[in-house]
Amino acid sequence: MKTLIKNILLENVVEEINRLETDTVLLVVDHQVWSHYSKDIILEKIENKKVIFWKSPDGEKVKNINDFQNAIEFFLDKGIHRNAHLVAIGGGAVSDFAGLVAATILRGISWSVVPTTLLAMVDASIGGKVAINSKSGKNLIGAFHLPTNVWICARFLKTLPELEKSSGMGEVLKCCFLDYTIYDLSIKKAPLEIIIDACAQFKQKLTDEDLLETGVRKILNLGHSFGHALEYIYNLPHGLAVVWGMVLVFKVFGTEKNINDIIALKNALDIPGKNPPWFNKEFPIDKIMLYLSKDKKISALNSIDLVIVNDIGNAVVEKKSFDEIQLALENNKDELRKFTL
Ligand SMILES: NC(=O)c1ccc[n+]([C@@H]2O[C@H](COP(=O)([O-])OP(=O)(O)OC[C@H]3O[C@@H](n4cnc5c(N)ncnc54)[C@H](O)[C@@H]3O)[C@@H](O)[C@H]2O)c1
Repeated sequence: MKTLIKNILLENVVEEINRLETDTVLLVVDHQVWSHYSKDIILEKIENKKVIFWKSPDGEKVKNINDFQNAIEFFLDKGIHRNAHLVAIGGGAVSDFAGLVAATILRGISWSVVPTTLLAMVDASIGGKVAINSKSGKNLIGAFHLPTNVWICARFLKTLPELEKSSGMGEVLKCCFLDYTIYDLSIKKAPLEIIIDACAQFKQKLTDEDLLETGVRKILNLGHSFGHALEYIYNLPHGLAVVWGMVLVFKVFGTEKNINDIIALKNALDIPGKNPPWFNKEFPIDKIMLYLSKDKKISALNSIDLVIVNDIGNAVVEKKSFDEIQLALENNKDELRKFTL
């Protein structure tokens, strides 16, 4: 199955839902998003379908096992069947969560996403990776379950807080290193809608080739192993943690050109902040190493797959042992403490 990615207007969300071939729609909607858009997405206009509505606590809070069980029991209690279709409206947290509900309820039903954050439009809503968090780390309980549709509407970005927009730009910046077209559009400051579309299509192309992430899709993890550790240690928004995760990979295993490119792209994409979260503090090597050891991307007990960028559009996956990573971080820790972008 291939996901259909389509740019739509806000007022057409209901129209798209009406076109679904089902008589039962499970709606999972971000609490915050609903407070802004319930007047634009008029559920009463959904025709000839039973609509079961579950409002989710905003953002990352929903990605836990209790809310997962609550949502499943709620939908089962309301009466659903295998042909029901779930629609998620929200950022990456809600699409990760709702996608896992769709993947597991009645052994899996079809689903679609209306991404409402920049990060979800360019990344999280595409590719079928769905998950909730465990006490041991992020996204450790999950599945692969492709959505049928991703309906992208850039109007949602009008109400998105600046910090969340910058977080989404962090994932756009990552894509610039992986694909020359996205790099070129970004450095030339093309309209955001065009950059969003290029990122979404790029991710879909990679996931079409390698859904289960055993090959080429792995490059999308650029900056993520260190990034997830930094997200956890410093409580950073996901995309910004990925930016600093890329900085770490580039400083420790990359080239001077990588660093020059990230500075140019960060400026072109208007991503704020020059100082890394560890700036002028003790560099948290032990915490990073502990987190890495629990990362899903460890391919063996003592090593991890890291994405290295040779040049724009030329990324490779390299296996690095934990000893090697620890030594490289130790060797660079004094310079990293003072490093700014
Ligand atoms: N599955 C994947 O492939 C994938 C890829 C990248 C990230 N992710 C996951 O995505 C999550 C992060 O997603 P995110 O960055 O979209 O943030 P999010 O979903 O946590 O949302 C961030 C905040 O913005 C609010 N919000 C959402 N849309 C809004 C809008 N239009 N206007 C105003 N407020 C709005 C939310 O209520 C929340 O408070 C993480 O859990 C991460 O693990 C998944």
